Amino acid sequence: MPTQNLAAIILAAGKGTRMKSSLPKVLQPLAGSPLAAYPIQSSQQLGCSPIVMVVGHQSELVQETFSAQELLFVEQAQQLGTAHAVQMAQPVLNDFSGTLLLLCGDVPLLRQETLQQLLTDHQQAGAVVSVLTATMENPTGYGRIIRKGDCVEKIVEEKDTSAEEKKVQEINTGLYALEAPLAFELLAQIGNQNAQGEYYLTDIISLAREQGHRVVASILNDSAESMGINDRVQLSQAAKILRQRINHDHMVAGVTLIDPDATYIDSKVMIGADTTIYPGAQLRGTTTIGCHCTIEAGAVIDSCTIGDHSIIKAGSALEGSTLGEHSTIGPMAHLRPGTILKGHNKIGNFVETKKAVIGLHSQASHLTYIGDAELGKNVNLGCGTITCNYDGVNKHKTIIEDDVFVGSDSQLIAPVTIGRNSLIGAGSTITKDVPADALALARTAQKTISGWRNRNKK
Ligand code: UD1
Ligand code: CA
Repeated sequence: MPTQNLAAIILAAGKGTRMKSSLPKVLQPLAGSPLAAYPIQSSQQLGCSPIVMVVGHQSELVQETFSAQELLFVEQAQQLGTAHAVQMAQPVLNDFSGTLLLLCGDVPLLRQETLQQLLTDHQQAGAVVSVLTATMENPTGYGRIIRKGDCVEKIVEEKDTSAEEKKVQEINTGLYALEAPLAFELLAQIGNQNAQGEYYLTDIISLAREQGHRVVASILNDSAESMGINDRVQLSQAAKILRQRINHDHMVAGVTLIDPDATYIDSKVMIGADTTIYPGAQLRGTTTIGCHCTIEAGAVIDSCTIGDHSIIKAGSALEGSTLGEHSTIGPMAHLRPGTILKGHNKIGNFVETKKAVIGLHSQASHLTYIGDAELGKNVNLGCGTITCNYDGVNKHKTIIEDDVFVGSDSQLIAPVTIGRNSLIGAGSTITKDVPADALALARTAQKTISGWRNRNKK
């Protein structure tokens, strides 16, 4: 809990050249959320207010992506260095007095406890500048922490290190707590006399010390948390670490993962207890799965809500759909956005649904297309039923009332209504509404010619 005013600054102006992507680095997806969503969420959970995001490269896209969050955006038109980036936040923090938590948009794995510890250390020590450090087996590329006894003297960037300094394994994670407004006075004194000609935020350490302010360095136990994402190799490594955390939490909460190393669950997904998930399943976006469900191998489920006791069989793809309890889907079914199953439904192999509301206990077991349709209760669609919803220009609706039985290989040419308890004969092409309790047959009568084969033999 913050004992005093707490604000956050998230640095996200860089391009991320090494990603080789048309998407700015902070928008690269990690477990279903853009990279910068992680520091945003951390600062929200810590109660930071305001949260200022420094944007630059493709700033409009970055702002649009996070427009639903309560953020203050400031623009850094030219990326002149990390100190310069923080300075951009000064105008919107003019009235702010307290602790500034400084986070990077490309460092997604920091745990809440770690950030809290840094803030506690900072505030208990009465420090003006605190930095989170880590010990790296291979510190190449990171700023090195140069200590004099227990005290941190300065941080030296890789390109400015001496041979001796290069050997130092304690590195700067790029995460800081700073006291405002004093920190902005120190930032204004930072120059760019270094190998990269940039305004280095790291220089704030030596400046603060020289001017008699208290500087603290907290060491992070698990250095993997501070991993910065610069290229797609690191992106995949971070995804793996995050996957282990997410899957661990689900298992502890009562979900069986047959092979957690091969189960891909996005960070926002929720799953009920006693659900079993087989290898190769992917649960994406805002998916919520109930209790006692089975998700088989290769199922891809994106932003769906699935009721208790449902079974999603192998190879099925579900998107933007809501499934009631006891739904059985697939194998290899395709539920597209706007599919609503009321419960106890069976959607079998090679069935596709789209914008379809399907009542309790209704089913389509094989080879069927249900699009722009409304089905009542206890409807049975035979193998090969097709709602012909599109005339090449407009989409039309098919309504099938309770207790209808549609024989195999029937086409229902929309707009059309099939009345309650009626029966459609197999192989029919239905173009007109069918009243309740009727039998509708729309196929040519069979013609049989006896002995035809023998007569025509050569
Ligand atoms: C920085 C640190 C280094 C540390 C490392 C940890 C400095 C000078 N160096 O180096 O000590 O070990 O992070 O990962 O601070 N950014 C801006 N505007 C700029 C420059 C950067 O917004 O003008 C943002 C980037 O988008 C990124 C973050 O600041 O999110 C860090 O910048 P980056 O260039 O990646 O710094 P590093 O060289 O990794
Ligand atoms: Ca970096």
